[in-house]
Amino acid sequence: MSAKDSTNISELTITLKTFFGFEEVLKEELEEMGYTQIEILNRAVQIKGTWADVYSLNYTCRCAISVLVQLASFRIEKEEDLYKKASKIDWTELFDADKTFAVKGAIFSTIFRHSQYPFLLVKDAIVDQFREKGMDRPNVQVKAPQVMFDLYIREKEVVISLNTSGAPLFHRGYRESVGDAPLNEVVAAGLIRMSGWDRKTPFYDPFCGSGTLLIEAAMLALDMPAAIERTHFAFKNFRNFDHQLWTDLTENTWTRPNTMEVEIAGSDSSADMMMKAKRNLRGLGLARWVEVKPDAFLESKKPFENGMIVTNPPYGERMGVEVEELYDELGTWLKHSMTGFTAWIISSNDEALKKIGLKPSKKIKVFNGDLECSFRKFDLFDGSKKDQVTMD
Ligand SMILES: C[S@@+](CC[C@H](N)C(=O)[O-])C[C@H]1O[C@@H](n2cnc3c(N)ncnc32)[C@H](O)[C@@H]1O
Repeated sequence: MSAKDSTNISELTITLKTFFGFEEVLKEELEEMGYTQIEILNRAVQIKGTWADVYSLNYTCRCAISVLVQLASFRIEKEEDLYKKASKIDWTELFDADKTFAVKGAIFSTIFRHSQYPFLLVKDAIVDQFREKGMDRPNVQVKAPQVMFDLYIREKEVVISLNTSGAPLFHRGYRESVGDAPLNEVVAAGLIRMSGWDRKTPFYDPFCGSGTLLIEAAMLALDMPAAIERTHFAFKNFRNFDHQLWTDLTENTWTRPNTMEVEIAGSDSSADMMMKAKRNLRGLGLARWVEVKPDAFLESKKPFENGMIVTNPPYGERMGVEVEELYDELGTWLKHSMTGFTAWIISSNDEALKKIGLKPSKKIKVFNGDLECSFRKFDLFDGSKKDQVTMD
């Protein structure tokens, strides 16, 4: 029996959450997977699908933070309505009392006087239902619950969903070693998509740190499932978990190729970071294909004749270093040493970005965590067409 049959829901409403600005690239990723009816929401996209889709999306999707399955949507007029309507959901059908749970989400409503109160009401509705049926009551665990519910309220409209991922999907499970200011994996995957990288052009990150952009690029090029190293998924703790469906999916989705066609390389001035990047690449079996070198960018030679740079230099704010000079040198280095490349640079430091001194051909506003950033494209034409590199 498939998970789809066992829940008796033929068509699920599946919401994939993402970061601000990454909705379009998430949609594009889903289109590549074959989904057609994709609705773009605020920091999310929505599709219809089955439990097989839910498992597969958790396993393969690079640009989503979590995969939600809608349980109920309804309208409320006052606080008590939330408890009453949430009580109508058959919670005991969804999970067993020996599993810990949490209710999280987002509330944009003037009905509630305290922002945490809606979560408490739904939690009470769940626990009371187990008790009323004479069952043990499940325990709430806020930090690492086994089962997670998502509550979204916009004024009077309420949506309650199962968070089938649990811990966010940027916890890919491949990063044993983290740098000082690592890029979020979902952000890295989203930036690579935004850059329009074709997965054939040589790819280079001269500030690669622990290697997030290199790893996400290699995984994309090889079509390696994003969550190949991840073991935790909240859906495994639901009563309807279909072990066979999951095993079939993970065993049949991907076969490791013998070679990687595209060249990917990174460098970083910190030898410690290089060790971390190597360790992370090795963990995924990518170390033989992705070359990393302990070099400051000014000493770095072109790893390939031409290609695509996607990079995340220090912003200053987070790493406590003076960076304007670094960006000034970066601009000169790009212009003189990286001709033939297209460079995409993400930074939250607008003043420093100006010091690059090259005119970006594109600017995209994105967030890296809480930091508002600009993701800028610089076309570095070869010397014979130098006049095309205009100053900002
Ligand atoms: C924001 S971090 C990059 C983090 C990386 N994207 C990751 O996910 O781990 C910036 C990196 O730039 C490196 N760095 C600082 N100055 C450098 C320089 N002059 N040349 C090359 N790398 C440098 C730092 O060691 C740090 O790892």
